[in-house]
Amino acid sequence: MPAASDWFFGNRKESYARARRNTAAMAAAMRGASEEDARATLRALDGDESFLLGALPRGEEVRLAAREVGRHGMVWGSSGAGKSYGLVIITNGWTAGGTRRLQILDPKGETYLLKSLHVAGQYLDLPEPEREAYAARFRVFDVTADALTPFNLFAVPTGMSPSLLASLRAAATRHMSGHDYSDLMEYGVFLLYSAATNLQWGITTKFVRAFFLDAAFRARVILPRLSDARLRDSIEHIETTLPTQTRTAIVRQFDILLASAPARISFGLSPAMVHALAPADARATDFLGNFGPTPQRSPALAKAMAINRLIDVLNDANVREEITPELVLVEEVGVIVKQPAVADFLLEGSRTLRWKGLSMVCVAQDPANAIPRETATALVLNSKWLLAFECGKEEALWLFPHVTRAANQSEAEQRQAFVREMARLPTQQAVLVKKGLPAVRFRTRDLDDPTTRYPRELLTETFEREIARRSMVRVKDAEARIATWEADLFASYGGSSSAAPSTVHGPQTGGAATRGIADLFALLDRARGKSADEENSR
Ligand SMILES: Nc1ncnc2c1ncn2[C@@H]1O[C@H](COP(=O)(O)OP(=O)(O)O)[C@@H](O)[C@H]1O
Ligand SMILES: [Mg+2]
Repeated sequence: MPAASDWFFGNRKESYARARRNTAAMAAAMRGASEEDARATLRALDGDESFLLGALPRGEEVRLAAREVGRHGMVWGSSGAGKSYGLVIITNGWTAGGTRRLQILDPKGETYLLKSLHVAGQYLDLPEPEREAYAARFRVFDVTADALTPFNLFAVPTGMSPSLLASLRAAATRHMSGHDYSDLMEYGVFLLYSAATNLQWGITTKFVRAFFLDAAFRARVILPRLSDARLRDSIEHIETTLPTQTRTAIVRQFDILLASAPARISFGLSPAMVHALAPADARATDFLGNFGPTPQRSPALAKAMAINRLIDVLNDANVREEITPELVLVEEVGVIVKQPAVADFLLEGSRTLRWKGLSMVCVAQDPANAIPRETATALVLNSKWLLAFECGKEEALWLFPHVTRAANQSEAEQRQAFVREMARLPTQQAVLVKKGLPAVRFRTRDLDDPTTRYPRELLTETFEREIARRSMVRVKDAEARIATWEADLFASYGGSSSAAPSTVHGPQTGGAATRGIADLFALLDRARGKSADEENSR
């Protein structure tokens, strides 16, 4: 039987060399201590509504209580190390009780795909009468050739400042056309989203063009309808704050951005249209978001929508009255937190939404490289548990403080050996840390493969037809609504300056529309380069 410490330090050969240096008594004492450490950790991880995650080398079960998963965590490891399979085990265990919520945001689509096969397998396993209720648990965010899940980009959640929402939406689209925005451009996009949010409209390329380049359109269609005086003022002066060149550049960006049907629909639907097309099913508890590459959607658009989804998930949790255990799994988190505004929002959300029952699990292949330094540090610090598969040196060093040390080796030696060992962990082998307790090294359990029970095509077809379709609207229907709205809007503009388009809905009323005005002022002023002093002295 290998000494427990061998699971952390070195291979057999090294441990043999070490054993020669050690006295037999020391080795025995160490083994006893490490085993006791591991057992203490296992006991702390286990508890009510636990599920089997894996096993220690000697066969002891590693069980995770729902309570433990429902805390912020971080998962990392190189490609093919076993993250996605591990995450399916964890998310299946988390939702097994049926009362907890799950959010998967997957910018790569692999974990989503694996999860969807398992969901379809479970669906097919159920007797016919139970299938409907099972399927109703899921809400899927995806895009196919003729259908997609609509977003509600311009609806302001209760209590949120509209300017914060607009600035986050602007951040989400910042990299969309492959070129970065200048600060001036970002300000312009922020104004556009602020206007759409205030008017409760969607946006189309024709609308964007008119908004930025047609003064008469702004004067006759936009300005009279804006309920926010400061926003009105900013848009009225858009030609002095934003050079024609900048406005033209924004219009060009949106021409590229809105070139595909999924983009036109995501950005074109007003809150009222979303509501009419796809009323939310209150029974949904498991939200599966696929933002991986598809032929219908550019990677940049997919990424923007992943960020928008994160914004919505955190907003929803914030607005919710009751405390609901909700696990938010963010795959490839590096893709999402490149934007400082988005990273701040995620970190702020993870801090403030704890008491609402929200836990955030961030996943990355190589977090030390993929995530901006400060954000990575904050995420590791925020996490109550860490699950690491084969990984690089920096990530291994994040774990090392939690690893049981041997008395007979120098700190530096042990650190080096640990880093080496983490760099070549076999698939499914991982180190699990519950902060405050010694790390345990274990192997994830073998996940059953639904394709051994049902043909793969049947699983994907079942998932799409019986589960994903419920959340989606037909591209044709959504495009028709947007086209009608746009035609009405421009018909009214072309006809008479005072006529209101029939499908246009008035500005949102109530607290949310006015609460954020102070924030909006601050943002607008910042965007114009005014100092806080000036702001205060006015
Ligand atoms: N728990 C597991 N049960 C069965 N097979 C697994 C398990 N974990 C990993 N594998 C195998 O290893 C491969 C890579 O695992 P995966 O979870 O996709 O890695 P990652 O998400 O880290 O890239 C899988 O395709 C599967 O064949
Ligand atoms: Mg994976």
